[in-house]
Amino acid sequence: MSSSINAWDEIFKQRSMVFPEPHEDMPGIVKLLKGRGASTVLDLGSGTGRHVVYLAKNGFSVYGLDSSSVGVKATRQWLKNEGLKADLKLGSMTEQLPYADAFFNAVISVQVLHHANSSTIVKVVGEITRVLNRDGLIFITVPKLKNQGDSFEQVEPNTFIPLDGPEKGILHHYFTSEELREVFVDFDIKDIHLDTVNHYCLLAFKQ
Ligand SMILES: C[S@@+](CC[C@H](N)C(=O)[O-])C[C@H]1O[C@@H](n2cnc3c(N)ncnc32)[C@H](O)[C@@H]1O
Repeated sequence: MSSSINAWDEIFKQRSMVFPEPHEDMPGIVKLLKGRGASTVLDLGSGTGRHVVYLAKNGFSVYGLDSSSVGVKATRQWLKNEGLKADLKLGSMTEQLPYADAFFNAVISVQVLHHANSSTIVKVVGEITRVLNRDGLIFITVPKLKNQGDSFEQVEPNTFIPLDGPEKGILHHYFTSEELREVFVDFDIKDIHLDTVNHYCLLAFKQ
């Protein structure tokens, strides 16, 4: 991994519990996973660990990958405090994921996939597909396309870099529901809805 300053490291250094509670849909996702007998779950872009901890508490074999060493360290500490275990890796979703083909019953990724440009997003979805078993579940959230105003630099259609604020300098791709359907064309899409903070939530299964 590059040794350049990781912007998420800086955010998590300032506020490690920036995301303390699981996403509002997670109780329903856990219920669905338990009903399907799922055991192995990857949290792609696991941040400071709110979903790793939540899923581990619910008895799953949890794997987490994130490019922020501060996030991974905070997750390890949180797991330790709770007496829980998970397999955590420091790495980038933009590289080949360090897991075998069809290893996971589910991949969740909350507010991560959009930190890339369009072509990289397609590559990452290819890797998610590879590591997921047939009929495996995905739960992915991404931000909705809106008018970005002046405080963003546009780098390609629907992809921007904030010029100020806590996520200054971090690539953001904004989705339409049509684009989500295109990107996840190889999945059986069960639901796309907006959550209470206006992020698209995608629930789908690998065909
Ligand atoms: C908005 S936070 C969400 C964290 C976590 N999913 C959650 O819901 O609490 C975005 C996360 O994506 C991670 N991230 C950004 N780009 C990444 C990449 N290329 N590979 C892996 N993780 C990445 C950041 O380090 C950060 O932890």
